[in-house]
Amino acid sequence: MPTRSLFPTLVYSSRAAASGWRALNERLLKECRQLRLDDAAGRRWSRKSYPGGYTSYSSVSRMHQMSPTFATLERHIDSHVRSFARSLDFDLEGRPLSMTDCWVNIMPRRVTHGLHLHPLATISGTYYVSTPAGAPGLKVEDPRLDRFMASPPRRSDDRARHRPWVELPAEAGRVILFESWLRHEVPANLVAAERISISFNYGWF
Ligand code: NI
Repeated sequence: MPTRSLFPTLVYSSRAAASGWRALNERLLKECRQLRLDDAAGRRWSRKSYPGGYTSYSSVSRMHQMSPTFATLERHIDSHVRSFARSLDFDLEGRPLSMTDCWVNIMPRRVTHGLHLHPLATISGTYYVSTPAGAPGLKVEDPRLDRFMASPPRRSDDRARHRPWVELPAEAGRVILFESWLRHEVPANLVAAERISISFNYGWF
């Protein structure tokens, strides 16, 4: 083939565990909802910075060190992060790539989470606890958009890898990973049920 693909942007999506994830999700779901009740500082922060929803991002962001249930989830995610790091050909020089932050996101109807990236992290991702039918996925953006200048638009039947935005479906029990510099957002939740996820950062410092 005369055409090669260079500088790929890798994203990873997999079931977190072959079995047992439903029981794990039931426990996580209870703990996510309990955390929202207990975390007054997080509810206050969310009123301004996550309107209509709840996130423990600024208040309780190390759930993997506070809850055995989240620690179990961390062990599952660790193995996916190792596999993703191998796909990226990372040379980790014997230093650990480990979970630094882990927080809860609850998005009722009409809540959205605008474009952002995760500074000071290496790998970021999300694990889905509850995803009602029709709930939005995770929309990722081509990191080269600011250089496209005279690049023509793509055909309506283009392949996903040539699109400037791609929405990865959110599915309970699934983990999504990406490099932390990749901009992403969660479009508005249009269904009358809560979309509940757990986000995390991995650092290599
Ligand atoms: Ni994010």
